[in-house]
Amino acid sequence: MIRFSDEELKHQELFRQIEQMIAAGLPEGYAFVPQPNEVASVVLSKSTWAVLGLTCHIELFTQAHYKQSIEPDEGVSELFKDVFLFHWREESQHAILDELEWRRENEKLSDEERDRAVDDLIALVVAVDGILQAQSQSDANYFCAIAGRPFSTDERDAVEQQLLRAYRWQYILSGVQEPRFSNILGSMVNAQQADRIGAALLTLI
Ligand SMILES: [Fe+2]
Ligand SMILES: [Fe+2]
Repeated sequence: MIRFSDEELKHQELFRQIEQMIAAGLPEGYAFVPQPNEVASVVLSKSTWAVLGLTCHIELFTQAHYKQSIEPDEGVSELFKDVFLFHWREESQHAILDELEWRRENEKLSDEERDRAVDDLIALVVAVDGILQAQSQSDANYFCAIAGRPFSTDERDAVEQQLLRAYRWQYILSGVQEPRFSNILGSMVNAQQADRIGAALLTLI
């Protein structure tokens, strides 16, 4: 676990460097809205089962994202691709550990504790969605400011809605649809809990 945490610190540093390189080519005004400390305090207020579930979900969708969207794209910068290739290799190992830890935690819980943990997992997904809403609003404003032509209110709103759809697919729904994730989660929760999770996800589609 300590080695994986070290790898995550390395990933953060890699992405910070990539971000700075991208920023050098971006017009002024781009904003990254989420505050890492605020996100961390929300996540850490939730049960271990829910946090492991979210971690497993994230590490599986980042792998799917690399395989489907970055690796086959011939137009993507070689350096950018390389960073994500090595990230993918390490995340492949993390996801194996996530599953083991999540199942181990699951066995420790009583039915009532698991029921509350399901609510926590839903709350975490809602929190992620809050971040996506704020970022898509910010990104729509940024896009319309730099695109070089005026936008009507309707057009601006359509840009925001399309960004939100894309972000929800990337950061929530693509991971939920990963068979590995749905199989693990499905093996832990009962039908009523699965329905609650499904109902929460339906509001994002
Ligand atoms: Fe990572
Ligand atoms: Fe990881």
